[in-house]
Amino acid sequence: MITIKQLFDYDTWTYTYLLWDNKTLDAIIIDPVLEQVDRDLDVVEKLNLNLTHVFETHVHADHITAATILKQKANIKICYGSKSKVKGADILFEDGEKFILGDNEIVVHHTPGHTSGCVSYYVDGYVFTGDTLFIEGTGRTDFQGGSSSDTYESVRRKIFSYPDNTVVYPGHNYNGFLHSTIGYERKFNPNVGDHINKETFIKNEKLKNRPYPKRFDIAVPANMKCGQIKK
Ligand code: FE2
Repeated sequence: MITIKQLFDYDTWTYTYLLWDNKTLDAIIIDPVLEQVDRDLDVVEKLNLNLTHVFETHVHADHITAATILKQKANIKICYGSKSKVKGADILFEDGEKFILGDNEIVVHHTPGHTSGCVSYYVDGYVFTGDTLFIEGTGRTDFQGGSSSDTYESVRRKIFSYPDNTVVYPGHNYNGFLHSTIGYERKFNPNVGDHINKETFIKNEKLKNRPYPKRFDIAVPANMKCGQIKK
């Protein structure tokens, strides 16, 4: 059995997830934010967890990851998808690779589109979609090797291959929603729901006029080195 704790960074509207096996208390953390490292380590300590790995869903453009500082403070291993092109990761997951956490099997899916190196993680009825699939949305596809065609295929063929009652935990939400389900997103996601075909999705993405990401020039170079901020 797995337990999930959802954590929030209010400056960047980022969700971080702490997952642990109920018996062994072995834990991983998905997408930790640099500024929240003390909070996250406090939770780990309070719950008596054995934090072993950071799982990143992708190279973030809006915040610096806490991966490197967690490695320094808690001796964890840093994990990314193998297409992420980051320097300094300990593990680069291939598509379909499985990671064992106590009694649980976490499946890694390469889900490119928002960036060319995006991955989603599935475990026991939950899918962590990063910025590939949001609640009633999808991540932008105009930077970092992004591709609207890839997002459509990643969501429809991979993420939506899970049953309707699978819980969706995204990388961000800007409206106060915490989680969703595959069934809900198939029905109500205005970008990539069942009623939207691939051509329409690609056309709609082209029409979107999104602003240049605020922290892009600081966050991306640091995150390409797993969140190292010193030279
Ligand atoms: Fe992102």
